[in-house]
Amino acid sequence: MDFNLSEEYQMIKEAARDFAQYELKPEVIQRDEEQKFSAELVGKMGDLGFMGMMVSEKYGGAGLDALSYALALEEIASIDASAAVIMSANNSLVCFGLEKYGTEEQKQKYLLPLASGKKLGAFALSEPEAGSDATSQHTTAVDKGEYYLLNGTKNWITNGGTASTYIVIAQTDVSKGHHGINAFIVEKGMEGFEIGPKENKLGIRSSDTHSLMFTDVKVPKENRLGEDGFGFKFAMETLDGGRIGIAAQALGIAKGAYDLARLYSKERKTFGKPICEHQAIAFKLADMATEIEAARLLVYKAAWLKDQGLSYGNASAVAKLFASEVAMKTTVEAVQIHGGYGYVKEYHVERLMRDAKITQIYEGTSEIQKIVISRDLLKH
Ligand code: CAA
Ligand code: FAD
Repeated sequence: MDFNLSEEYQMIKEAARDFAQYELKPEVIQRDEEQKFSAELVGKMGDLGFMGMMVSEKYGGAGLDALSYALALEEIASIDASAAVIMSANNSLVCFGLEKYGTEEQKQKYLLPLASGKKLGAFALSEPEAGSDATSQHTTAVDKGEYYLLNGTKNWITNGGTASTYIVIAQTDVSKGHHGINAFIVEKGMEGFEIGPKENKLGIRSSDTHSLMFTDVKVPKENRLGEDGFGFKFAMETLDGGRIGIAAQALGIAKGAYDLARLYSKERKTFGKPICEHQAIAFKLADMATEIEAARLLVYKAAWLKDQGLSYGNASAVAKLFASEVAMKTTVEAVQIHGGYGYVKEYHVERLMRDAKITQIYEGTSEIQKIVISRDLLKH
């Protein structure tokens, strides 16, 4: 077993760190305050190969593996968690499924511009009444011969307003339950497809989240992804990989907050010495560092399993569950270590604390991760 990162992995980490430091950091507070999505920065992420990291070069991607992806996401999220989720939705929720299950025509038409960062993708599974209970799909797609007629509403869709390509999960045959669910590629601008107002969120405020409304949208037959009835398993398999991305995002948020708290604790003096010399503060740092390291190992392990072609659904749920809890705990403690300064925007940690919360909710809440993990361990 080798815990050292190869030179290539270190280079990927450094490229992402530099991008985060020099491009994302300067206006990160302003983007958060104004809920401003930056197409320019997303374009730069595309130029650097971050928008289709695991897609083969043949389809416009960077041809890298899941560990490279996790390393890059960790660095980016440590500075700007919104940029991380924009990137992760495009990479693991959209590009992954298109490359694995798309036809050659679908890959040429949709995957190429998404993987190269020229266009942005979104993944629409959740609905007003189907979040955790994802099989309860109310959106319908009725087979009309040459096309499917799509009707329904999707909720909370990341990149919802800024994407141009959407993977939409819908029920085609209610009588078949989750075996009657399919995944479709829907384009922005299709007649009957409307985008709701931008959600005003607690955190990840510079990533845009919208509901999507479909009224008699004619989705061409050739836009179905995979075999008939494969849509639910497609969504679950997509989320197995997606959760590695969110776990890496959570890890990055925790690392970002810890780095700031550690530095601050050496500078800030009370009672004649730096606060890191008060054991209460030093012990907080010790706990943070320990938990971050444990989260990192879980994230890397899940990515490694995926890269080896081994089963990784359970490992990605474990990594996401643990890393998101660590992100929440670490960011709260980072604010505490900053005292009053931690409560204002200039010091970054309050934003990281707000950003951390979502990692316990999306791509399956912590409670859902425990369902996935416990079912898996009881199965064997
Ligand atoms: N891979 C392949 N197939 C899977 C699977 C997986 N990981 N997990 C389940 N399945 C299959 C099952 O085998 C079953 O098929 P069969 O009946 O043929 O055996 C079918 O899917 C249904 O599975 P369950 O009976 O386990 O279904 P359930 O209703 O009990 O729910 C669940 C399972 C794990 C709770 C699921 O509903 C779930 O993951 N919910 C959370 C949804 C979620 O994570 N949403 C995220 C939206 S995207 C997002 O949030 C993006 C973002 O923020 C950026
Ligand atoms: P519910 O399912 O209503 O859950 C409410 C509470 O009950 C939670 O605490 C949950 O853990 C708990 N609970 C539910 N069922 C059980 C159970 N069986 N056992 C124990 N506890 C349970 N979705 C997408 O499809 N695409 C996206 O791009 C996307 N982006 C998002 C971005 C943001 C900012 C947000 C807020 C959400 C996003 N989502 C997206 C939706 C997200 O995945 C759901 O919000 C999440 O899966 C939870 O669903 P829900 O909100 O309906 O909560």
